[in-house]
Formats: sequence, C-alpha cells, structure tokens
Amino acid sequence: MSSFAVLNGPNLNLLGQREPETYGSTTLAAIEDSCATVAKELGCELTWFQSNHEGALVDEIQRLAAEGVDGIIINAAAYTHTSVAIRDALATLDAPFVEVHISNVHAREAFRHNSYLSDLASGVIVGCGVQGYELAVRRLVALTS
Ligand code: DQA
Repeated sequence: MSSFAVLNGPNLNLLGQREPETYGSTTLAAIEDSCATVAKELGCELTWFQSNHEGALVDEIQRLAAEGVDGIIINAAAYTHTSVAIRDALATLDAPFVEVHISNVHAREAFRHNSYLSDLASGVIVGCGVQGYELAVRRLVALTS
C-alpha cells in the first residue's frame, strides 16, 4: 500500500478560526477526516504533520525521504514564499510532491505570487479551498500507480 505524507506549515493549525473569509471554516482535523475517506477509497495510507517551524518541516521532509515515502502533499503556508531550506529538502526526495494552497494565492498580495516550491512540484493546486487536499491525494495516487 502506498504511503503519502501531508505536511502543513505555519498557522494552518488554526484553520477553522483563522481568517475564515480566506480559508473557510473547516479545521485541519476535519480535512484529515475527509482525506481519510478518500485514502480508504483509493487504498493508500496518509500520515499528517503540521509545524509552525521551518526547521521542523525540513527535518520531517528529510525523515520521510530516508524512510522512502511514496509521495508528499505540502502546504508550506507562508514558508512557500520564503523558504529555500524547504525547497532544498524537497529537492532531495525521489518521490513526487504536490503543492497545495487553500486560497488562490495569485489573486492575493504580490508577495504570495512567488513559490520556492512550484517548479519542483509534480503538481500545484491553488484556490480550490480545502478540497485541494483531496484532489492532491487523488493526483498522487494517479502519479504513483
Ligand atoms: C496558504 C497561502 C499562503 O500565502 C499563506 O501564507 C498561508 C496559507 C493557503 O493555503 O492558501 O498560510 O498556503
């Protein structure tokens, strides 16, 4: 069974209460639940990790790469627009990763238009709301089977 990791960056632990006009009212736990249903349907396993710390995300990507994860879904949140370190960690992966953003970052402030991750990603899902996570699971399954 394929095993995929879902990584979430800073402030995404506050989903549901944080800027609901931009990110909606669904919590991260509820996203996990809906993705678990999709994973069951498709016969894959998902693990979840959230951190507000850049180095912790780098450590987790390195750990996942070493254990041979089959793919990663990452919403690096604000680090998307700043982190060469997360980019470099993802560049060491042999497996594909899909970048997700809940909001349409291209319709927001100019500093959100650049991603340090997108050109390395196998796919980028933006502006599909929290449904983007489920779409990313489906995409990783399609890419790896
Ligand atoms: C985000 C977009 C980022 O610009 C922002 O910093 C986030 C969330 C999104 O999911 O839309 O924290 O990644």
